[in-house]
Amino acid sequence: MKTIDALLTRNSSPKLTNPIPTEEQLDIAYQCALRAPDHAWIRPWKFIQITGKGLDKLSDAFISTAKKLDPNTKPEILEKYKSAPFRAPLIIVLVANTKEHPKVPIIEQQLSTAAAGQNMLLAFHDMGFGGIWRTGKFSFNREISVELGLKESEIVIGYLYIGSIDGKTKKIPELETEDFVTIWK
Ligand SMILES: Cc1cc2nc3c(=O)[nH]c(=O)nc-3n(C[C@H](O)[C@H](O)[C@H](O)COP(=O)(O)O)c2cc1C
Repeated sequence: MKTIDALLTRNSSPKLTNPIPTEEQLDIAYQCALRAPDHAWIRPWKFIQITGKGLDKLSDAFISTAKKLDPNTKPEILEKYKSAPFRAPLIIVLVANTKEHPKVPIIEQQLSTAAAGQNMLLAFHDMGFGGIWRTGKFSFNREISVELGLKESEIVIGYLYIGSIDGKTKKIPELETEDFVTIWK
């Protein structure tokens, strides 16, 4: 697939199943992630690759985090969080490992990690897999970082749910370029 084709046809898929990418394909996706723009070469990227029993661990981490964030979380909501990781056979947690830098604010380091995430979605799409980027309650807070064993400097910026596409994909919306672009000349 040409780069432009991959960019124009990428489509999020919420229904995902086996098979997942091979080790080799995963490595390609990570290498693509590591080509994200990165001001001052800080390398803020960190990824947690979760499959199999790891999904059970993530499910436990979601429940503990939800209880910490709100001890009164209703049981039906906790059930929803418990099952959330099983919506895909592979989850890659996007973690920004940021540090103070005189020229590069933390937000830029998080944006670089987001760019790495998009590179991975595109790489998986190119290799014939589907995915969807999710955030929700279990991103951008210290509670989930602690549950995932992350350092003080590390923050979860999202989750890539990855797998083979199960069923039909949605129609890609047609957007007018001019609605989004201002031209100065
Ligand atoms: C930072 C970020 C966080 C997102 N979080 C969620 C989420 O928690 N749940 C969800 O259903 N979609 C979430 N989305 C949206 C989907 O990833 C996806 O973009 C959306 O379903 C539209 O599909 P498309 O990417 O094919 O246009 C998020 C997207 C981004 C960029």
